[in-house]
Amino acid sequence: MVSVKPLLFLCFSMVSLAAMADTARIDISIDTQRPGAVLNKNIYGQFMEHLGRGIYEGVWVGKDSPIPNKNGYRLDVLQALIDLKVPLLRWPGGCFADEYHWRDGIGPRNERPRTVNSNWGGVIEDNAFGTHEFFEFAELVGAQTYINGNLGTGSPKEMVEWLHYMTSDADTTVVRERKKNGRERPFKVDYFAVGNESWGCGGNMTPDYYADLYKQYTTFLKAPENNQPKFIASGGTDVQTNWTQTLAEKIKRSGNVRMDAISHHYYTLPTGDWETKGSATGYPEEQWFSTLQQTLRMETFITDNVAILDELDPEQEIGFYVDEWGTWYDVDKGTNPGFLYQQNTIRDAIVAGLNIHIFNRYAKRVQMTNIAQMVNVLQAMILTDKEKMLLTPTYYAFKMHIPFQDATYLPVNLSDTPLYQHGDDAIPALSVSAAKALNGDIYISLINTQVDNAVEVALPQVSQVKGKLLNSRDMDGHNTFDHPDNIHPTDYTATEVNGSTVISIPAKSLMVLNLGQL
Ligand code: AHR
Repeated sequence: MVSVKPLLFLCFSMVSLAAMADTARIDISIDTQRPGAVLNKNIYGQFMEHLGRGIYEGVWVGKDSPIPNKNGYRLDVLQALIDLKVPLLRWPGGCFADEYHWRDGIGPRNERPRTVNSNWGGVIEDNAFGTHEFFEFAELVGAQTYINGNLGTGSPKEMVEWLHYMTSDADTTVVRERKKNGRERPFKVDYFAVGNESWGCGGNMTPDYYADLYKQYTTFLKAPENNQPKFIASGGTDVQTNWTQTLAEKIKRSGNVRMDAISHHYYTLPTGDWETKGSATGYPEEQWFSTLQQTLRMETFITDNVAILDELDPEQEIGFYVDEWGTWYDVDKGTNPGFLYQQNTIRDAIVAGLNIHIFNRYAKRVQMTNIAQMVNVLQAMILTDKEKMLLTPTYYAFKMHIPFQDATYLPVNLSDTPLYQHGDDAIPALSVSAAKALNGDIYISLINTQVDNAVEVALPQVSQVKGKLLNSRDMDGHNTFDHPDNIHPTDYTATEVNGSTVISIPAKSLMVLNLGQL
């Protein structure tokens, strides 16, 4: 009988050699002597809007639900978010924020008004999830809070009273009302934004008009000394820098109102076309490539705006936040178009990692971002189907980066920058980010953007690495309710060989490695 084993081994070796031939080894050195900015943990913030099943079903099911819950918050999602160490939650929108009247969401739940969510599917909003529910949820998750105020259809009085209701301890009628509604102590508001996308769904304003309104509203927004939020102005679109210019000029120079940051939004669309954005699954390599290429535009968008701030705000008093980012695809077939429900694949995990690397590079100004959105909407961490829940590849990308929260940025040098060529275009095949974690350990995050080829790197300073690898055989590998564990991180360890640790980063993968204390 002839054994087939040697033949198989020979074939395997030839394949390995062929793959290796494509990959030159890249030396990576980490500059521990020139630490950069602290990576504010709120770079890893989340966004939850009254949109589709993002809050209702995704987070809030109510106390009487058959879905196991604590005070109405579904337990499976809550635990997953606690495990994720979510640092910050932004609420209630988005476009929804500029039509949200906070008084609709306080008091006995069965007496709250029923309104229409005109932005997202025209569905009935019963206001069961309001101010108290949001803060209780944030406290359970262990997250800081970001409230987005209503500039579009509200009034200065309404906004001022909401901030007072949430933060004050004075014996006023409004604070008595909060206490009557069950909350003795003030809530902690960490960030407060005046309006959302005021260039579009928030009122179609010009930057000049918005700047005047921002000054008017913030003049009256008052909170106790020990409970001061950072005040955020809503910035322009991804292709604009004129909002940053106008806001920095008009508001900073006026000197008597606070603007701690300007916040922008940038979404990744595979095609770059809002009419036909591209599919969340089953896409060709062309759209794998274009999605990553579009994502990398985030860097230019940040540098263009930061350059303006560097000129107009050399004292670095104004942060540049990205309080909405992530992939936006055509909605999954058969779902309500207004609910923005989409699957989430290994491609999304790579998009998340690339964005995180960019934010880390500009962490001096980019001190806060929020991926859109946390559950069941756009690039979600978690998807639910009634009582079922799954964790997406993006969830794992965030989880792997937990050691980067509040770590210190470390520059990296690459001996070469390999390219991923597709047609006439090319993007970097390898993206790297390193940081010193709070416990002193050095972490490195590595992404191979290519569909087919591995990238081999050497870490000459390092004797042992251990960490996690997230990858997929298929370009659109994802988790389903029937197979929720298709894509998950696996353990990775490597040790020194001939004075250098060599790591082969598989195609379509993200790695986060602990390098110990260098
Ligand atoms: O995240 C979905 C929507 O995208 C938000 O409501 C809005 O701010 C943006 O246009």
